[in-house]
Amino acid sequence: MRLVVLTGAGMSAESGVPTFRDALTGLWARFDPERLATPEAFRRDPDLVWGWYRWRAAQVQRVQPNAGHAAIAAMERDGIEVDVVTQNVDDLHERAGSTRVHHLHGHLLQSRCIDCGATAEPDPIVAPYEGGDEGRHEAPPRCARCSGLFRPGVVWFGEALPDDAWSAGISALERADGVVVVGTSGLVHPAASLPGLARWRGLHVLEINPQTSALTHDVDEHWAMTASAGLTRLAEELRSA
Ligand code: APR
Repeated sequence: MRLVVLTGAGMSAESGVPTFRDALTGLWARFDPERLATPEAFRRDPDLVWGWYRWRAAQVQRVQPNAGHAAIAAMERDGIEVDVVTQNVDDLHERAGSTRVHHLHGHLLQSRCIDCGATAEPDPIVAPYEGGDEGRHEAPPRCARCSGLFRPGVVWFGEALPDDAWSAGISALERADGVVVVGTSGLVHPAASLPGLARWRGLHVLEINPQTSALTHDVDEHWAMTASAGLTRLAEELRSA
């Protein structure tokens, strides 16, 4: 059996990573994330934006995958071919053991030169963090090759999605027998168009989310459950099917 699991920020909520639409805390509480996660914000105040991503990267490195991440990895071990197509920029699916994870919105724990694309080893975005829980402004490092500023490896609002992740997600949907959508408000396109594409192909779409979302009206089933409870139940049902 081939499954596509589309995940959003709610997938990582039980690991302690705030969802994108949770209110920000600390230094960032007064900012709207959608205004920080843009090329313009970085150009206007690189220390503020780089500092925010360094704070988020430190947060993600401190938490662990939850039972929902583990249930998806268990489905693979049970012989189900699983493609995870995620809007999340953390590495929790990979750390739980999922082997095919496609990041539509990039990677929080990677960074590169904004001008020439050069990377550095060790990656400066995962360097030890001294900003505490409050967070702080931090000047991004400069590229050794062209002295451009380093930027986080995430997709900012207004930027194109990485071709390889998007086409991997589309081809996974073309091969899939079913789709599970977990923990997304379904507000941000083009990621939010994938469940509709699956339905159009006649695939069964199950949504797992304690709330309804912009997608709920167009899915076959909605389990009003958390990611960990819903995915654990699904893994058990598939195992005994
Ligand atoms: N289990 C499952 N779902 C949950 C849980 C949980 N424990 N807790 C919250 N949720 C749901 C919420 O009900 C909400 O529908 O997760 C969803 C989170 O929605 P958003 O914060 O909007 O996150 P997401 O849909 O991933 O945002 C999409 O927006 O800002 C961009 O790039 C950013 O990738 C992000 C994208």
